[in-house]
Amino acid sequence: MKIATVLGARPQFIKAAPVSRAFQTYRADHQDRPVREVIIHTGQHYDDEMSAVFFREMSIPEPHYHLGVASGSHGRQTGQMLQRIEEVLLHEKPDGVLVYGDTNSTLAGALAAAKLNIPLAHVEAGLRSFNRLMPEEINRVLVDHVSSLLLCPSQVAIDHLRTEGITAGVHLVGDVMADALSLFSALADSCSDIHERLGLVKGAYLLATVHRAENTDDPERLASILSAFGRLDEPIVLPLHPRTKKVIDSLKLTVPRQVRVIKPVGYLDMIALEKSSRMILTDSGGIQKEAYWLGVPCVTLRDETEWVETIESGWNQLVGAEADKIVRAIRSFARPESRPGLYGDGRAAERIVDLCIQSHPST
Ligand code: UD1
Ligand code: UDP
Repeated sequence: MKIATVLGARPQFIKAAPVSRAFQTYRADHQDRPVREVIIHTGQHYDDEMSAVFFREMSIPEPHYHLGVASGSHGRQTGQMLQRIEEVLLHEKPDGVLVYGDTNSTLAGALAAAKLNIPLAHVEAGLRSFNRLMPEEINRVLVDHVSSLLLCPSQVAIDHLRTEGITAGVHLVGDVMADALSLFSALADSCSDIHERLGLVKGAYLLATVHRAENTDDPERLASILSAFGRLDEPIVLPLHPRTKKVIDSLKLTVPRQVRVIKPVGYLDMIALEKSSRMILTDSGGIQKEAYWLGVPCVTLRDETEWVETIESGWNQLVGAEADKIVRAIRSFARPESRPGLYGDGRAAERIVDLCIQSHPST
């Protein structure tokens, strides 16, 4: 049996790492039932620090196909991916296609599979922000409606699907990012020297990331976030996404003195930075969850989140991009006493692989 995995953006490499590993384990344990994973990299992210570093650090198998689509408008990027993925699928004839999350690579992979009537499995199905202005929300909704296996990280995600009339093929598997964190946490402890390299005192800095379209395409929001950072007393480490760097450079926005801008870092350095930060300020989806799992308070620079359970727990606060609100939230954050387990037990990848294989009993 053959599964084609379509990926292309940073968080997808991190999500795919434990699943690829689980495919390899399955293969080793079931030699009577050979399973092959064919990895198709769309090329959406292409800088070494946005792509190759994750394959190296997380031992993800080298992609069988590099489609080299790179950056572009939504239509152009998604269209080129769709065309090139279709060619690969026609050639490889996989029994199923596996996609992750909500990027343009996810949508292109899903459409290519659906049009060829190849069963589609969607990891992170059912998430909703209910903000259709977000490109990711459009991608998620469309992908879920053409998927035959909907692999959900939470009961809330399952409930969203039910509301949209999707009940068949829906499974609660947990979150693969929890698997990734538990697989690589010890390695980050032993391998990362990022604190020494940056001269950072553990526990005495904030970690920030900003890359969402809503914050980078609106110069007022981005300027407001930067001005909030400028009103804080502690150093702020900002591994800067290339999208945000481009906007800051082109608009010549002022980056406050206490903000330490660095290039995007690999996953091991990122975990190390997260673990020892006093607080995380982010608009990333994945980082909100990592903050929660690591017990680091998080202030989310968005108006809504898909990860509502982290807000309900008190460990994450939604503040948007208004400077006063950001500063107030950081200064007054009360660390909750308890941190209930969220998004599974770190064994989502195993379940995903089992479900992908079980859904093709005849192959
Ligand atoms: C994409 C996803 C977003 C996800 C994010 C993860 C979509 C619509 N958005 O956003 O959901 O949270 O990835 O990081 O798919 N660039 C580089 N080098 C790279 C990659 C990008 O310089 O390796 C620059 C280019 O100028 C590009 C811009 O970043 O135009 C945006 O990249 P793109 O992949 O279109 O969207 P992201 O903002 O990365
Ligand atoms: N990440 C990383 N290096 C960085 C920034 C983020 O390894 O410089 C990791 C982070 O730990 C998380 C994932 O990338 O696992 C989140 O990806 P991103 O914020 O790009 O996308 P989102 O989750 O918002 O879609």
